[in-house]
Amino acid sequence: LTCTATIDPAFTIAPVPPRLFGSFIEHMGRCVYGGVYEPGHPEADVDGLRADVIKLTRELGVSAVRYPGGNFVSGYRWEDGVGPVGDRPVTLDLAWRSLEPNTFGLNEFMSWARQTDIEPIMAVNLGTRGVEDACNLLEYTNFPGGTRYSDLRIAHGVRDPHNIKTWCLGNEMDGPWQVGQKTGTEYGRLAAETAKAMRRIDPSIELVACGSSNERMPTFGSWEADVLDEAYDVVDYISLHAYFEQHGDDRTGFLASAQVMDTFIDGVVATCDHIAAKKRSRRKLKLSFDEWNLWYESRFAGQDNLEWARAPRLIEDEYTVEDAVVLGNLLMSLLRHSDRVDIACLAQLVNVIAPIRTEPDTGAWRQTIFYPFALTARHARGEVLRVEPTSPVLHSETLGDVAAVDVTATRDPETGQTTIFAVNRDDSQAATLRLAMAGEEHDIVEHVVLGGQDLLATNSKDAPRRVEPRSSTRHFVEGGGFSAELPPVSWTMIRTA
Ligand code: AHR
Repeated sequence: LTCTATIDPAFTIAPVPPRLFGSFIEHMGRCVYGGVYEPGHPEADVDGLRADVIKLTRELGVSAVRYPGGNFVSGYRWEDGVGPVGDRPVTLDLAWRSLEPNTFGLNEFMSWARQTDIEPIMAVNLGTRGVEDACNLLEYTNFPGGTRYSDLRIAHGVRDPHNIKTWCLGNEMDGPWQVGQKTGTEYGRLAAETAKAMRRIDPSIELVACGSSNERMPTFGSWEADVLDEAYDVVDYISLHAYFEQHGDDRTGFLASAQVMDTFIDGVVATCDHIAAKKRSRRKLKLSFDEWNLWYESRFAGQDNLEWARAPRLIEDEYTVEDAVVLGNLLMSLLRHSDRVDIACLAQLVNVIAPIRTEPDTGAWRQTIFYPFALTARHARGEVLRVEPTSPVLHSETLGDVAAVDVTATRDPETGQTTIFAVNRDDSQAATLRLAMAGEEHDIVEHVVLGGQDLLATNSKDAPRRVEPRSSTRHFVEGGGFSAELPPVSWTMIRTA
């Protein structure tokens, strides 16, 4: 199995968008309570924020975090989560049938964001609420002072405005599970009017309209078109969400999930550009892939039959080595679409389908998917290069023919360093990656692999470092390029200088 490709710094797609390495914190399960926030835990500071989670979030290389939902936001009253903690009510979270203590809210999140050095991305409730509440929230967060909500923030001990730049106009408003579901046109009107009003308060903000909840939604394509018919001129982004898992016996299809992500992104880009053409608009909308990950959704019992509880254990999926290979490949898909995908959020950050796990009686640990994310966030620097690999194909029951090997690369023009990411999706044989490198001579300075063996291994509380990437020497530099071995079902990162 041999895959060939040429790496040429002359052919670039776009600079690596810093917010491609975002994540997501929702008031769901144990993401907030028992995750980022756990007063009384030995790792918690005086405000209840867990230092071990902050440390791992930094190590993960997360650049931005979307908050507070998710389905949760569609029934959320942000006012319940600000002000003296003793005065905050316990409320019903209709999305996850959870009891919401409201002891963690906007200002606690912003304090966490500052300590973690991430950019906040805030979502407003367009399920049960609308224009006025979105404006009140923006006035609270971004207006300097001297008005009702900005003075309320100051009275709550936050003198300087938070100046939150990016705002999501609701969440998954096409979903039948969403509180306040709407048609594309209804939502598009509401999003447009909310956008107009919010921009009057703060013209510097960026706004994200909801796209389809996933590309399997029956209205996918027409939903985006209906929403953008109403809102194209007043929003900056349209969102995409996707969760991947293996369906039936189609392991090859699962390993090729990045190909589904490619097609999904291309479809949304085409729809945006179709509306731009209809409107004779010169603006090119950007994409915010503000929820993506692997989620064994088929094992989840669903939202309707949950018992009311505080911070229940919801969808705490344990990820395998094979999952990490797929996740690394999904990041490659995001990178090669960086000319249009400007924001992406791995959903979620802690405990709930998350790279970081916690328990009350121990320190936080890294799931397998942590590693390809952290390594890509650290080393995908500079420009994404246009790479057109030639690969043999594998057959998938659900996807038809898929490439056995996938390759993406970035190059930092300042250091001249090139980073190559490659995945072998074949589960029976190793592949040889033959790369021709245009330009100067290169040496390999790092070659790490995840996969190729123990594909079902996971990390856990008792064995938090069972799985880690390992370095490899199975490459050789040959005039004008190099070749490297990609073990069966593996993710590889090679750095040259
Ligand atoms: O991330 C879990 C849930 O998945 C989010 O609340 C929702 O937006 C999506 O369906």
